[in-house]
Amino acid sequence: MTFRLSRRTWIRAAIYSGFAIAGGAGYVSSKRLEKVQADVPLAGLPKTLDGLKIGVMSDFHAGAFTTREDVLEAISIVSEESPDLIALLGDYVDGAYSHSRKNVEKGSYVFDALQKLKAPLGIYAVLGNHDHWTDAGLVRKELSRLPLTILNNQGISLDNGLAVAGVDDFWEGPSDPSEATRNLSPDSVIIMLSHNPDVNLQLRGDKRVRLVMSGHTHGGQLRIPVINWAPWIPCSSKYKGPSGLIRETEHRCTFITKGVGTFFVPVRLACPPDIGILRLTRA
Ligand SMILES: [Fe+2]
Repeated sequence: MTFRLSRRTWIRAAIYSGFAIAGGAGYVSSKRLEKVQADVPLAGLPKTLDGLKIGVMSDFHAGAFTTREDVLEAISIVSEESPDLIALLGDYVDGAYSHSRKNVEKGSYVFDALQKLKAPLGIYAVLGNHDHWTDAGLVRKELSRLPLTILNNQGISLDNGLAVAGVDDFWEGPSDPSEATRNLSPDSVIIMLSHNPDVNLQLRGDKRVRLVMSGHTHGGQLRIPVINWAPWIPCSSKYKGPSGLIRETEHRCTFITKGVGTFFVPVRLACPPDIGILRLTRA
Protein backbone atom coordinates (compact mmCIF):
# COMPACT_ATOMS: atom_id res chain seq x y z
CA MET A 1 0.00 0.00 0.00
CA THR A 2 1.38 3.47 -0.87
CA PHE A 3 0.66 6.63 1.07
CA ARG A 4 0.66 9.93 -0.73
CA LEU A 5 1.05 13.00 1.44
CA SER A 6 -0.81 16.09 0.36
CA ARG A 7 1.03 19.34 -0.41
CA ARG A 8 -0.52 20.92 2.67
CA THR A 9 0.85 18.13 4.90
CA TRP A 10 4.34 18.59 3.43
CA ILE A 11 4.23 22.34 4.08
CA ARG A 12 2.97 21.78 7.62
CA ALA A 13 5.73 19.20 8.28
CA ALA A 14 8.36 21.61 6.91
CA ILE A 15 7.14 24.42 9.17
CA TYR A 16 7.07 22.18 12.27
CA SER A 17 10.55 20.85 11.45
CA GLY A 18 11.83 24.41 11.04
CA PHE A 19 10.48 25.33 14.47
CA ALA A 20 11.96 22.17 16.02
CA ILE A 21 15.41 22.82 14.51
CA ALA A 22 15.34 26.52 15.49
CA GLY A 23 14.17 25.58 19.01
CA GLY A 24 16.92 22.97 19.42
CA ALA A 25 19.58 25.36 18.13
CA GLY A 26 18.19 28.08 20.40
CA TYR A 27 18.34 25.81 23.43
CA VAL A 28 22.00 24.95 22.69
CA SER A 29 22.74 28.67 22.18
CA SER A 30 21.14 29.47 25.55
CA LYS A 31 23.81 27.34 27.25
CA ARG A 32 26.82 28.93 25.48
CA LEU A 33 27.85 31.52 28.02
CA GLU A 34 30.18 34.25 26.71
CA LYS A 35 32.60 36.53 28.50
CA VAL A 36 32.15 40.12 27.33
CA GLN A 37 35.18 42.25 28.12
CA ALA A 38 35.18 46.03 27.86
CA ASP A 39 37.46 48.88 28.78
CA VAL A 40 35.48 51.77 30.25
CA PRO A 41 37.26 55.06 29.57
CA LEU A 42 36.35 57.65 32.20
CA ALA A 43 37.68 61.21 32.14
CA GLY A 44 39.08 62.33 35.49
CA LEU A 45 39.44 58.81 36.84
CA PRO A 46 41.99 58.88 39.71
CA LYS A 47 45.27 57.09 38.96
CA THR A 48 44.58 54.66 41.78
CA LEU A 49 41.45 53.41 39.97
CA ASP A 50 43.11 52.95 36.57
CA GLY A 51 42.75 49.29 35.61
CA LEU A 52 40.17 48.46 38.30
CA LYS A 53 38.35 45.31 37.24
CA ILE A 54 34.62 44.71 37.78
CA GLY A 55 32.81 41.39 37.30
CA VAL A 56 29.19 41.82 36.22
CA MET A 57 26.44 39.18 36.46
CA SER A 58 22.69 39.43 36.09
CA ASP A 59 19.41 37.67 35.25
CA PHE A 60 20.02 34.17 36.57
CA HIS A 61 16.28 33.35 36.61
CA ALA A 62 16.97 30.35 38.83
CA GLY A 63 14.06 28.01 39.40
CA ALA A 64 12.96 28.08 35.76
CA PHE A 65 15.32 26.93 33.00
CA THR A 66 18.70 27.95 34.45
CA THR A 67 20.42 25.04 36.19
CA ARG A 68 22.81 25.09 39.15
CA GLU A 69 25.57 24.15 36.66
CA ASP A 70 24.79 27.21 34.51
CA VAL A 71 25.17 29.46 37.55
CA LEU A 72 28.38 27.73 38.65
CA GLU A 73 29.86 28.14 35.16
CA ALA A 74 29.15 31.89 35.25
CA ILE A 75 30.73 32.16 38.69
CA SER A 76 33.76 30.20 37.56
CA ILE A 77 34.35 32.49 34.53
CA VAL A 78 34.07 35.62 36.70
CA SER A 79 36.31 34.16 39.43
CA GLU A 80 39.06 33.25 36.92
CA GLU A 81 39.36 36.97 36.17
CA SER A 82 39.98 37.85 39.86
CA PRO A 83 37.88 41.05 39.70
CA ASP A 84 38.45 43.80 42.27
CA LEU A 85 34.70 44.25 42.66
CA ILE A 86 31.61 42.29 41.64
CA ALA A 87 28.18 43.68 40.67
CA LEU A 88 25.09 41.44 40.86
CA LEU A 89 22.22 43.05 38.99
CA GLY A 90 19.06 41.19 39.94
CA ASP A 91 16.52 38.62 38.69
CA TYR A 92 18.20 35.97 40.84
CA VAL A 93 15.00 33.92 40.63
CA ASP A 94 12.29 33.65 38.00
CA GLY A 95 8.77 34.97 38.46
CA ALA A 96 7.44 34.61 34.92
CA TYR A 97 4.88 31.84 35.38
CA SER A 98 3.92 32.21 38.98
CA HIS A 99 4.29 35.14 41.35
CA SER A 100 4.99 33.05 44.40
CA ARG A 101 7.58 32.82 47.15
CA LYS A 102 7.81 29.14 46.23
CA ASN A 103 9.81 30.24 43.18
CA VAL A 104 12.47 31.70 45.51
CA GLU A 105 12.66 28.35 47.31
CA LYS A 106 12.80 26.51 43.96
CA GLY A 107 15.68 28.72 42.78
CA SER A 108 17.55 28.86 46.09
CA TYR A 109 20.54 27.05 44.54
CA VAL A 110 21.53 30.39 43.00
CA PHE A 111 22.16 31.83 46.48
CA ASP A 112 24.20 28.78 47.54
CA ALA A 113 26.32 29.11 44.40
CA LEU A 114 26.90 32.86 44.84
CA GLN A 115 28.64 32.12 48.16
CA LYS A 116 31.69 31.13 46.11
CA LEU A 117 32.29 34.68 44.84
CA LYS A 118 35.18 36.73 46.23
CA ALA A 119 36.34 40.29 45.48
CA PRO A 120 38.67 42.44 47.61
CA LEU A 121 36.61 45.65 47.16
CA GLY A 122 33.34 43.86 47.77
CA ILE A 123 30.35 42.25 46.12
CA TYR A 124 27.30 44.48 45.64
CA ALA A 125 23.77 43.44 44.76
CA VAL A 126 20.50 45.01 43.64
CA LEU A 127 17.10 43.42 42.97
CA GLY A 128 15.25 43.02 39.65
CA ASN A 129 11.59 42.92 38.69
CA HIS A 130 11.38 39.11 38.89
CA ASP A 131 12.69 39.20 42.47
CA HIS A 132 9.82 41.54 43.30
CA TRP A 133 7.32 39.40 41.39
CA THR A 134 8.19 36.45 43.59
CA ASP A 135 9.03 37.71 47.08
CA ALA A 136 11.51 40.60 47.38
CA GLY A 137 11.70 40.21 51.16
CA LEU A 138 12.68 36.56 50.87
CA VAL A 139 15.22 37.28 48.10
CA ARG A 140 16.81 39.96 50.33
CA LYS A 141 16.86 37.49 53.23
CA GLU A 142 18.64 34.88 51.08
CA LEU A 143 21.15 37.48 49.82
CA SER A 144 21.80 38.75 53.34
CA ARG A 145 23.21 35.31 54.25
CA LEU A 146 26.02 35.92 51.75
CA PRO A 147 29.21 38.00 52.12
CA LEU A 148 27.87 40.86 50.01
CA THR A 149 26.21 44.25 50.37
CA ILE A 150 22.65 44.82 49.18
CA LEU A 151 22.24 48.36 47.83
CA ASN A 152 18.58 49.31 48.07
CA ASN A 153 18.70 53.00 47.06
CA GLN A 154 21.94 53.25 48.99
CA GLY A 155 25.55 54.14 48.27
CA ILE A 156 28.90 53.35 49.84
CA SER A 157 32.15 55.33 49.57
CA LEU A 158 35.25 53.19 49.29
CA ASP A 159 38.67 54.45 50.40
CA ASN A 160 40.15 54.95 46.96
CA GLY A 161 37.91 57.69 45.54
CA LEU A 162 35.36 55.20 44.26
CA ALA A 163 31.75 55.02 45.40
CA VAL A 164 29.24 52.26 44.63
CA ALA A 165 25.53 53.07 44.54
CA GLY A 166 22.59 50.79 43.83
CA VAL A 167 18.92 51.39 43.19
CA ASP A 168 15.86 49.22 43.62
CA ASP A 169 14.11 48.04 40.45
CA PHE A 170 12.91 50.73 38.01
CA TRP A 171 9.51 49.03 37.50
CA GLU A 172 8.81 47.58 40.91
CA GLY A 173 11.13 49.55 43.24
CA PRO A 174 10.95 52.48 43.78
CA SER A 175 14.22 53.30 42.05
CA ASP A 176 15.67 56.40 43.71
CA PRO A 177 19.12 57.38 42.40
CA SER A 178 19.07 60.72 44.29
CA GLU A 179 18.66 58.88 47.59
CA ALA A 180 21.28 56.30 46.57
CA THR A 181 23.93 58.99 45.97
CA ARG A 182 22.85 61.53 48.62
CA ASN A 183 25.56 60.73 51.17
CA LEU A 184 28.42 60.18 48.74
CA SER A 185 31.34 62.56 48.45
CA PRO A 186 30.97 65.00 45.52
CA ASP A 187 34.56 64.19 44.52
CA SER A 188 34.12 60.45 44.21
CA VAL A 189 33.67 58.53 40.98
CA ILE A 190 30.26 56.88 41.35
CA ILE A 191 29.42 53.60 39.67
CA MET A 192 25.75 52.59 39.84
CA LEU A 193 24.04 49.22 39.86
CA SER A 194 20.53 49.22 38.43
CA HIS A 195 18.72 46.14 37.15
CA ASN A 196 17.05 48.22 34.44
CA PRO A 197 19.09 50.59 32.23
CA ASP A 198 16.14 53.00 32.16
CA VAL A 199 17.51 54.42 35.42
CA ASN A 200 19.32 56.76 33.01
CA LEU A 201 15.95 58.46 32.44
CA GLN A 202 16.08 59.42 36.11
CA LEU A 203 19.77 60.35 36.11
CA ARG A 204 19.47 62.67 33.08
CA GLY A 205 22.35 65.18 33.23
CA ASP A 206 23.85 63.87 36.50
CA LYS A 207 27.62 64.20 36.13
CA ARG A 208 28.60 62.31 39.26
CA VAL A 209 27.44 58.85 38.17
CA ARG A 210 30.09 57.78 35.66
CA LEU A 211 29.09 54.21 34.95
CA VAL A 212 25.71 52.44 35.12
CA MET A 213 25.70 48.64 35.05
CA SER A 214 22.45 46.90 34.11
CA GLY A 215 20.84 43.68 32.95
CA HIS A 216 17.08 43.16 32.46
CA THR A 217 16.96 43.33 28.63
CA HIS A 218 18.46 39.83 28.05
CA GLY A 219 19.68 41.51 24.84
CA GLY A 220 16.21 40.68 23.52
CA GLN A 221 16.92 36.95 24.05
CA LEU A 222 15.45 36.15 20.61
CA ARG A 223 17.04 38.25 17.86
CA ILE A 224 16.41 37.77 14.17
CA PRO A 225 19.81 37.00 12.60
CA VAL A 226 21.14 39.23 9.80
CA ILE A 227 18.82 42.14 10.59
CA ASN A 228 19.71 41.77 14.31
CA TRP A 229 16.22 42.76 15.42
CA ALA A 230 14.49 41.61 18.59
CA PRO A 231 10.69 41.63 18.66
CA TRP A 232 10.47 42.34 22.38
CA ILE A 233 12.82 44.15 24.74
CA PRO A 234 11.24 45.50 27.93
CA CYS A 235 12.89 48.92 28.14
CA SER A 236 12.99 52.30 26.40
CA SER A 237 14.00 52.35 22.75
CA LYS A 238 17.56 53.52 23.45
CA TYR A 239 18.46 50.11 24.91
CA LYS A 240 16.77 47.89 22.31
CA GLY A 241 19.95 47.79 20.21
CA PRO A 242 23.04 45.71 20.91
CA SER A 243 24.10 45.13 24.52
CA GLY A 244 27.54 45.85 25.94
CA LEU A 245 29.07 49.27 26.51
CA ILE A 246 27.09 52.33 25.47
CA ARG A 247 28.32 55.93 25.66
CA GLU A 248 25.46 57.61 27.50
CA THR A 249 26.68 61.19 27.85
CA GLU A 250 30.03 62.93 27.81
CA HIS A 251 30.34 61.95 31.47
CA ARG A 252 28.67 58.54 31.66
CA CYS A 253 28.71 55.06 30.13
CA THR A 254 26.17 52.27 30.52
CA PHE A 255 27.10 48.61 30.38
CA ILE A 256 24.28 46.14 29.69
CA THR A 257 24.82 42.43 30.17
CA LYS A 258 22.55 39.94 28.37
CA GLY A 259 22.43 37.90 31.57
CA VAL A 260 23.10 34.30 32.52
CA GLY A 261 19.64 32.73 32.21
CA THR A 262 16.54 32.84 30.06
CA PHE A 263 13.03 34.11 30.62
CA PHE A 264 9.73 32.63 29.40
CA VAL A 265 11.32 30.02 27.07
CA PRO A 266 14.60 28.07 27.46
CA VAL A 267 15.85 29.45 24.17
CA ARG A 268 18.13 32.20 22.91
CA LEU A 269 18.50 33.10 19.27
CA ALA A 270 21.50 35.09 17.98
CA CYS A 271 21.83 36.39 21.52
CA PRO A 272 24.02 34.20 23.78
CA PRO A 273 24.03 34.59 27.55
CA ASP A 274 26.99 36.43 29.02
CA ILE A 275 28.85 37.81 32.01
CA GLY A 276 30.81 41.07 31.86
CA ILE A 277 34.37 41.90 32.80
CA LEU A 278 34.91 45.67 32.85
CA ARG A 279 38.19 47.52 33.28
CA LEU A 280 38.07 51.19 34.27
CA THR A 281 40.66 53.25 32.39
CA ARG A 282 41.69 56.93 32.38
CA ALA A 283 40.31 58.63 29.26
FE1 LIG B 1 15.60 39.07 33.61
